[in-house]
Amino acid sequence: MRLLVLGGTSFLSRQIAHDAVTRGHDVVCAARGRSGSVPEGARLLALDRDEPGAVDVLAGERFDAVVDVATGALGWVLDALAVLADRVEHWTFVSSINAYADTGTPGQTTKAPLCEPVLDTQHLALSDLTVERYGGTKVASENAVRERMGPDRSFVVRPGIISGPGDEMDRFGYWTARFARGGQAIVPDTPHQPIQHIDVRDLAAWIVTACEQRLAGTYDAVGPVLELGAVLREASELVGAADLRLVPFSPEVLVEAGVNPWGGPRSLPLWLPADKHGLVAHDPRPALAAGLRPRSLADTVRSAFADEQARGLDRPRAAGLTPAEEREVLHRTVPEPDGGDHSGRN
Ligand SMILES: NC(=O)c1ccc[n+]([C@@H]2O[C@H](COP(=O)([O-])OP(=O)(O)OC[C@H]3O[C@@H](n4cnc5c(N)ncnc54)[C@H](OP(=O)(O)O)[C@@H]3O)[C@@H](O)[C@H]2O)c1
Repeated sequence: MRLLVLGGTSFLSRQIAHDAVTRGHDVVCAARGRSGSVPEGARLLALDRDEPGAVDVLAGERFDAVVDVATGALGWVLDALAVLADRVEHWTFVSSINAYADTGTPGQTTKAPLCEPVLDTQHLALSDLTVERYGGTKVASENAVRERMGPDRSFVVRPGIISGPGDEMDRFGYWTARFARGGQAIVPDTPHQPIQHIDVRDLAAWIVTACEQRLAGTYDAVGPVLELGAVLREASELVGAADLRLVPFSPEVLVEAGVNPWGGPRSLPLWLPADKHGLVAHDPRPALAAGLRPRSLADTVRSAFADEQARGLDRPRAAGLTPAEEREVLHRTVPEPDGGDHSGRN
């Protein structure tokens, strides 16, 4: 198979290129080459999709399959389709669970209502995207792929949390690094919060298989619904230091202390307010029936931790609490020597 990956230099798209090369396919990655290198055996076609006409260089090429991970950039998707759609058999678009309008209801399927499509073609960087614009641009991009390629040649996947090695957003890996450091680790006191993740290697493997088998349709690319408390407990048991103690903090106390949910700076990653629990509790069965094979949580935890060790456990992270922030939150809430508990902590 001749595969074009629009991306291929970071996380998911790089893993897709890696898997496809490993399976013996001829892989071209079109990217600037700034986020990283392409995997060994793949060819980098250096281009900047922000430059008008950048993808025209592909006009003479034929591919069996294309995978696009464009984010916040309907214009990129339209440009690529205009140049390639007639000479490609199968098109994968990596969308997001944020395509859905309802973030609160668990058990949703691909029949659930979507965000309003955002038809503005201007590219916005991830850091400048509101969640509405992110989701709406994904919806508009999905529609463009289905309209141009037709339903039988389009494969659209909507992941929630992508976990495993190489995650630049640091949400899943934060916990492994934090538990390895030991001592008192703040965790959200929301043990029954649903959580869903898909390991980057399992998602990539499924996408490459979909390209090979011309699998079409739209799927929520999610693993089974787990409970956050059990996920954090298992991770702490697998990689935690001997003196690690999990200190649960109620959502109210965390909010008061300026700790953010989900991800980004000063956060407890993966923790979500109740009105967002639907985002991490979609129905995984259609994707599982279509061949998605999520590995064990233990495998993902161990691999994410090995990746954290390789990148440096003390490095600055895109998500989580720094050691100083965690100490500050702990100190302002731990019981005072007078015996009074001023924390409000559960
Ligand atoms: N991470 C998650 O938990 C999560 C959750 C839900 C959905 N998703 C979706 O999953 C996908 C993840 O993709 P990914 O892991 O490959 O990461 P990504 O950061 O979305 O990939 C970006 C790729 O696009 C390339 N790129 C960026 N700017 C470019 C430009 N101006 N011109 C050409 N290429 C450019 C980058 O290469 P260069 O910088 O080298 O050009 C890189 O290879 C995205 O669609 C994301 O929305 C992710």
